Amino acid sequence: MTEHKTVLKGLEGVYVTESGVSLIDTENGALYYAGYDLRELVEHSSFEEVMFLLIHKRLPLRQEFSEFRELIRRSMELEPIHIEAIHRYARIVDVLTLLVILISLKGTGRQGGDPRDVNSAVDIVAKMGSFLSTIVRIKEGGDYVPPRSDFSYAENLLNMMNGGNYEDEHVEILDDLLIIHADHGISASTFAALVAASTLSDMYSSVAAAILALKGPLHGGASEASYEQALNIGDPAKVPAWLEATLSQKKKVMGFGHRVYKIYDPRAVVLKEIIAKYLDRMDGKVRLVYEITKALEDYGQKYLAPRGIFPNLDLWTPILYRMIGLPSDTFTALFAVSRSAGWTAHILEYWRDNRLIRPLHLYVGEYPRKYIPMELRGDS
Ligand code: ACO
Repeated sequence: MTEHKTVLKGLEGVYVTESGVSLIDTENGALYYAGYDLRELVEHSSFEEVMFLLIHKRLPLRQEFSEFRELIRRSMELEPIHIEAIHRYARIVDVLTLLVILISLKGTGRQGGDPRDVNSAVDIVAKMGSFLSTIVRIKEGGDYVPPRSDFSYAENLLNMMNGGNYEDEHVEILDDLLIIHADHGISASTFAALVAASTLSDMYSSVAAAILALKGPLHGGASEASYEQALNIGDPAKVPAWLEATLSQKKKVMGFGHRVYKIYDPRAVVLKEIIAKYLDRMDGKVRLVYEITKALEDYGQKYLAPRGIFPNLDLWTPILYRMIGLPSDTFTALFAVSRSAGWTAHILEYWRDNRLIRPLHLYVGEYPRKYIPMELRGDS
């Protein structure tokens, strides 16, 4: 008797692990990190505290938090080999590829599998931020700026990127963005991290795998794609016709839809609230992108919402990224910096009860086939 086998494409609806890192409430539109509501964390917490929370599943006490912050700050310092690699490659390869090179360099000769390896987790998140800031700085002709012990992670990122040329509110916006992107269950990139980590590859290499999975426009690459989309539309008045044409050609609207949400993405709701605070100071290109995005959201209600397709966070992030002066080719890289907090927390958690991830496929080709030597196959 042949057994009936079902292929679950895209692993839709499949539970692959247990996790206490984050909870996505798809019915009420909420996201929790280790039980704490994202909204509350954005309002009261900092990215460093969220890092601690994701790893340890509890909030830190004052003394341990100050030691944790000091560890992050020290780990943000770059070695000459990294600075040289950035000088060599920053103008030749794209930012995400360079992040993969740099983080892979750090993995050389390391072992994976230790669920207590918090130091590597902190080192990865710290280095990812310093790598990104230093790439931007060196691409713009500047030199490496070391991290400062009196600055938060977000402020160090801006200072290392811009050498003091930023405003206080940019620090606040960046900290919020880092928190909002820090984790989101078993997304494609987190799954890629777990697949690599489950082979007992080291944590740095597992994060490199995750960055590569984040790159595509159906996942982290959607923010850059959504920014390009707004610039291509060019005028909010053109949105209805553009939307109709795009949907009639069966093309995807970037910044809309999600595998797990069939309601408005709660992260997008928080982002909209942050944007609302700065609306009166938004001008030029950022203002135009905002107006186009707003029109996309409004007309999306008519064309997409009835099919359960709502804005996701990537519809709104480009506005804040541009407000704090991030070049558009670094949007996905900043997402990677922030999500490295979630990736590493998931890896540590998975290693507590590691099992190689190795699914099956249903073979649909012919077999067995008889090999015919080349000279007997004919010429064409
Ligand atoms: N625009 C237009 N139609 C869409 C969109 C969209 N953004 N999203 C889904 N649909 C339609 C599909 O065309 C499909 O229609 P059909 O049934 O008539 O063929 C149906 O909805 C189901 O779409 P799938 O792509 O199969 O659904 P899935 O669960 O895989 O979708 C995904 C998730 C890939 C994110 C999708 O919504 C998409 O491509 N969105 C655009 C890219 C994007 O914004 N990605 C960021 C996601 S958030 C993040 O990763 C950080």
